[in-house]
Parts: sequence; structure tokens; C-alpha cells
Amino acid sequence: MRLLSAALLVTGFAAAGVQALAADGVAARDVKMAQHDYLLNCAACHLLGGQGSRTVPPLADTGRLFALPGGREYLGRVPGAAHSPLDDKRLAAVLNWMLSRFGDTTADPPYTAGEIGRLRAQPYLDPLAARRRLLAGH
Ligand code: HEC
Repeated sequence: MRLLSAALLVTGFAAAGVQALAADGVAARDVKMAQHDYLLNCAACHLLGGQGSRTVPPLADTGRLFALPGGREYLGRVPGAAHSPLDDKRLAAVLNWMLSRFGDTTADPPYTAGEIGRLRAQPYLDPLAARRRLLAGH
């Protein structure tokens, strides 16, 4: 029964995201891949709905962070993203999807594999300090 509820939750979650992004003209197949990559690589900490926990910030903040000077770079350099086993192209797709699904914004222009490759090559050693600097505007 528990397993069934979990399966239904994941299916519902996937369907909602596909509809949201398909409307933006992103190929449904790519959206599904990004969702699965998120589930397998990010959701253990960020949780299914992006709500996070006491030690993991809610992904709803990512829209606001992205809009700040340096925010675009910040999102690609946090360790959870930078050190994930996903290749550059798939990590770019997850971040694009994540911003739209949880951050209520669109990465414009979208992250590309090349940009993500450059950003993740400089992961933060102290991401919380980087986050504070970003929010303080320096
Ligand atoms: C092991 C737990 C963990 C995993 C797995 C993880 N993250 Fe995170 N993530 C964190 C924590 C903790 C933070 C807060 C900054 C820090 O301490 O690294 C964070 C912060 C972030 C942020 C910045 C959010 C903010 O409000 O500052 C983004 C974007 C992000 N993660 C993306 C991802 C993506 C994309 C994945 C999957 C590819 C992922 N993370 C996987 C733990 C994780």
C-alpha cells in the first residue's frame, strides 16, 4: 500500500511537470528525462516537491536567487549540482527544469552544457558563505 502511494505520488509529480514545461515548447521527452534525473540525483536531499529540510534550502528560492547578479553562476556551482554524476547536458536540463518547476521562472537563455561545464569546474567549498554573499549583493 505504501509502495503504491509512493508510485502514485511520483506519477502525479511527473505529469504535473510535463504539462507545465510542454506548454513552454520544451520537448516532453527531455522534460521526463530531467524529472527522472532530479528524482534520482537531487530529490533525496531536496525532496520530491523541492521543499528541502532543516539543512537544505527550499528550491522555491531559486527563482529569486537566479535573478540576482551572480545568481545564474551560483546555481551551477553549488556542490549538490556541480558534483552530481550527471553529465553537463543533463545537469543543464535539470537546472532549467528545476527553475521552471520550483523557482517559478525560466532560465533565459537556458543553461547549456558548455556553460554548466565551466561553472561546475569551480564548485564552492563554502556554499553557504557564497549564498550569503549573493544575497548581500557582493
Ligand atoms: C546530499 C544532499 C544534496 C543532493 C543530493 C543535492 N543537493 Fe542541492 N543542495 C544541498 C544543500 C545542503 C544545499 C545548500 C547549499 C549547500 O550547503 O551546499 C543545496 C543547494 C542547492 C541549490 C541552491 C539553492 C539555494 O537556495 O541556495 C541548488 C540550485 C541545488 N542545490 C541544486 C541541486 C541539484 C540540481 C541536485 C541534483 C543534481 C542537487 N542539488 C543535489 C544538498 C543536496
